[in-house]
Amino acid sequence: MTEAVFRIEDLHVSVEGTEILKGVDLEVLPGEVHALMGPNGSGKSTLASTLLGNTDYQVTSGRIVYKGEDITAWPTDVRGKAGIFLAFQYPEEIPGVPVVQFLRQALAARKEMGDLSVLEVRLSIMEWMKKLGMDPSFGDRYLNEGFSGGEKKRNEVLQMAILEPDMAILDETDSGLDIDALRIVAHGVNEVRAARPHLGVLLITHYQRILDELAADHVHILVNGRIVESGGPELSERLEAEGYEAWRS
Ligand SMILES: Nc1ncnc2c1ncn2[C@@H]1O[C@H](COP(=O)(O)OP(=O)(O)OP(=O)(O)O)[C@@H](O)[C@H]1O
Ligand SMILES: [Mg+2]
Repeated sequence: MTEAVFRIEDLHVSVEGTEILKGVDLEVLPGEVHALMGPNGSGKSTLASTLLGNTDYQVTSGRIVYKGEDITAWPTDVRGKAGIFLAFQYPEEIPGVPVVQFLRQALAARKEMGDLSVLEVRLSIMEWMKKLGMDPSFGDRYLNEGFSGGEKKRNEVLQMAILEPDMAILDETDSGLDIDALRIVAHGVNEVRAARPHLGVLLITHYQRILDELAADHVHILVNGRIVESGGPELSERLEAEGYEAWRS
């Protein structure tokens, strides 16, 4: 039996005393892409914030297991170091820090290597920027300063490629992605998966469109803090056609 790379077990999460997640179970095997969908306010971003280790979100019961270890109490940076990539783990904007420098520092922290060869890292970044269709000058721009929505997304995928995670959690819902940005994320994730076939992905999204290009193995529907149905790609297609009506209580 293949061991899950990531498992959420009966997770209950409260914010300021109100229970938002009411028992969520989800298991990601190596190489799998899981899509999490659900109406506004169902708790998707709450789950992402909890997986990120945001302390505003209290896990009242259940646990989060990564590669067999209970990480429920781990702080954010330790999760990152262990190989969990969370698109929200980085500050929005870091004035005066170029993209390339930031990536080198993040990679050094992840790999616990003090002296990564500047040249080697730069070459790897350049190679990925090419794969992701990014202009080489992008690496010398300051992180997220004046980045367009699409550029931010490309940069996130670039971070994911460079940091070589084993599990990636991407919450795309709040970012107002246009069609191009959706495609960028889908293609980028596919490129990274091609390079890391065992990478597990949890993609939180409202859009069937992204799943047309990034095939999910499993689709889950979250309603009112619970996964009310799980299935294959046909589930997101049904959602697209029928909306959430059938699952609302
Ligand atoms: N920090 C917070 N303080 C108070 N309430 C919160 C907080 N975070 C989330 N909530 C509440 O939890 C519920 C779920 O919110 P959440 O952002 O997780 O939904 P969502 O599924 O991501 O929705 P959307 O599709 O709109 O992004 C909402 O009722 C929201 O108001
Ligand atoms: Mg959300």
